[in-house]
Amino acid sequence: MNEEAVTPREAIPALTPRGAGGHQFVLYADACSGVPGVPHEATFAAVNAVVARLRPQPKFICFPGDEIQGLTADDAALRAQWRHWLDREMAWLDRAAIPLYHTTGNHTTYDAASEAVFREMLGHLPRNGPPGQEGLSYWVRRGDLLLVFVNTLWSGHGGEGRVETDWLDRTLAAHADARHKLVLGHHPVFPVNGFSGAYQREIGPTDGRAFWRVLVNHGVLAYLCSHMLAFDVQIHEGTCKS
Ligand SMILES: [Fe+2]
Repeated sequence: MNEEAVTPREAIPALTPRGAGGHQFVLYADACSGVPGVPHEATFAAVNAVVARLRPQPKFICFPGDEIQGLTADDAALRAQWRHWLDREMAWLDRAAIPLYHTTGNHTTYDAASEAVFREMLGHLPRNGPPGQEGLSYWVRRGDLLLVFVNTLWSGHGGEGRVETDWLDRTLAAHADARHKLVLGHHPVFPVNGFSGAYQREIGPTDGRAFWRVLVNHGVLAYLCSHMLAFDVQIHEGTCKS
């Protein structure tokens, strides 16, 4: 993405923070692409074309999961999808200037082998997560903003619809001074627009309750997730989920 590529007429004014400070970023996910020539590739390209026109450009982009179609036992095919997604579909983005933060998702990390490919393909992600989940779960501090990316389907924790909370609790406590705290994951905690189903559509009830308790206790502003292809904003106990 370079400034010359977009004329003033083509530029889309971005929502920007009010006053000094603040953080401007874009969040989108669930492209399920990575395969040349299929409809998802064209849809994703259309969305990217809009993001590329935002002015000012975002400081960073969060992509909470399901970048590619995935869900294959063929590791070489999975790597090829990631390479196509990173090298072709996201080639428009200068990722050195605008970091791209990912979360795991059901299309990308569905067993130990696909978790290994995720770590390999997204080697730029911090390795500061809980034991066993390095590169799958992590935190990023950007000034007064804390971003925590959780893994809602670790194979070592029972798979889809589970999330660990001990490391999350410690991480949020260690960054109690952060003015803004956001937690991001792939699966919703509460049903979205009537789409309900523990573990596959939202995090299971036991982990979900413990997870939300931690977010509320630490004053997290919002949990940002994806997975269900619907826009929704909810407020539970003062913490926002969207
Ligand atoms: Fe998903």
